[in-house]
Amino acid sequence: MTSSTRRPLVAGNWKMNGDKSLVEKIESQLNQAKLSNMDWVICPPAPYLGLFSSSTKLGVQNVSQFDSGAHTGEVSVSMLKEFGCGYAIIGHSERREDNFESDEIVAQKVAKVLEAKLTPILCVGEPESVREAGTLFDYIAAQLNAVLDLVGISAFANLVLAYEPIWAIGTGKTASPEQAQEVHAFIREHLAKQDSNVAVGIVILYGGSVKGSNAKELFSQADVDGGLIGGASLNPEDFLSICLAANQ
Ligand code: PGA
Repeated sequence: MTSSTRRPLVAGNWKMNGDKSLVEKIESQLNQAKLSNMDWVICPPAPYLGLFSSSTKLGVQNVSQFDSGAHTGEVSVSMLKEFGCGYAIIGHSERREDNFESDEIVAQKVAKVLEAKLTPILCVGEPESVREAGTLFDYIAAQLNAVLDLVGISAFANLVLAYEPIWAIGTGKTASPEQAQEVHAFIREHLAKQDSNVAVGIVILYGGSVKGSNAKELFSQADVDGGLIGGASLNPEDFLSICLAANQ
């Protein structure tokens, strides 16, 4: 991380894990630490949102692209705002796959979150087959372009990106710091073609098997501004050590 304009961010994505007791454990562990140089956010399953103290920054793992109405099982941005939620993970690969969220639906969700003045954490990332076929950058560019085409480059000043190679998620197979840096730099260059200020200012997280033991090396890369953490965010000590790595 080199730019002084970008504040490091670590977001914990609990996925469909955790329980009520984890809320308290995470808060007591993190609140003891002096983390004045970074922000941390917890994205728990929606039923737990109301259990956190008001000082904890919260996000959700998904939100509807619609305002309200007959959409059984969905949660709207206005509901999230009522619970003090500031962030929404959009386009996580598990939702793209399990819930058939296309690039277009992802773009609509980003637009809805931005309209409500919440911060989308927009996830992009390739399956292993794409990397092996040598079409990695085209794949990432297409995922970004779907959102750029709908909301425009200036809206990217208000969002966070997360690069999550699918082959590294939950597998223990972390991208090497060099592999992460290469894609983060590509993303920044891709955005810079449209607006160099937005490109320099945007926070780009890395996600995929980040742990206390590898966070420091990943976050020391010039274009890696923090992490989106799955498994390790369920362990308060591990999550804290990742936050400390981002705080340096
Ligand atoms: P992981 O998940 O840290 O368990 O690999 C990351 C994510 O899916 O956001």
